[in-house]
Amino acid sequence: MSIILDGKATSNQIKEELTIQVKQIKDAGKRPPHLAAVLVGNDGASLTYVGSKVRSCERIGYDSTLIKLDDDISQEALLDTIEKLNNDPLLDGFIVQLPLPKHIDEEVVLHAINPNKDVDGFHPTNFGKMALGMQTFIPATPFGIMELLKRYKLDISGKHAVVIGRSHIVGRPMSILLSEKGNPGNATVTLTHSRTQNLADITREADIVVSALGVPNFLTADMVKDGAIIIDVGITRVPDADHPKGYVIVGDVHFDQVKEKASYITPVPGGVGPMTIAMLLQNTMLAYQRNQD
Ligand code: GUN
Repeated sequence: MSIILDGKATSNQIKEELTIQVKQIKDAGKRPPHLAAVLVGNDGASLTYVGSKVRSCERIGYDSTLIKLDDDISQEALLDTIEKLNNDPLLDGFIVQLPLPKHIDEEVVLHAINPNKDVDGFHPTNFGKMALGMQTFIPATPFGIMELLKRYKLDISGKHAVVIGRSHIVGRPMSILLSEKGNPGNATVTLTHSRTQNLADITREADIVVSALGVPNFLTADMVKDGAIIIDVGITRVPDADHPKGYVIVGDVHFDQVKEKASYITPVPGGVGPMTIAMLLQNTMLAYQRNQD
């Protein structure tokens, strides 16, 4: 039986800490941090995530701006919007919610964001700094996982960490952070992906598994070592007629099976997802502080 890594409670704690900081800022007569989110199109999941990010800003006292653009917007018009945000002195940071429509080149868009406002940490300048262990904006999902490990005081030094998925948003940065010198850190990391052979043999050797694959219930009990730490990044919408929304959110980990073997495990929902939002807010505070200096 495992201990639940409660991302919701931990995220609430971080938001409370930020709320106190915002109050001190406002009491000093200064404007609060300001985050903007750009959403292109009407993808249901993206609408939910962006809505949640904006509501969290309001809750802790940040200013927030949601910019909704049609899904047939041209790349040039989107780049114009980004340029305006880059040059707005009263805006500390912004994100462009992914995925973008097929006719837009994601790389061109992400590289157009001013690195000083790139609170997602996706710009090559920030990704490079992160890889070198320099202070910068760290992508919110892997940052949230590191923070969860830290706040639960889980020691992963010298342990074998297996990351499933090599996306630029989660898997790749995760593999770098887990191996970085520090606490949490110092893990021996294996980054696995769609071409990996004998994945189950590798995950069975893992002291910590981070699954960022997007395949519901993929990681089963037979793939996990007794006492492993299991981090589930999956948030797939699975149709479910019995649910009022018509779907349920399912993680990569077969939770009911794996919780019997793991030492610690993140639930879905209520694990990594809320931590992602908390760390985006934290990155925005960092952007604000730099902007004030
Ligand atoms: N889509 C899925 N995760 C993310 C994220 O962390 N940031 C942005 N901008 N888009 C996403």
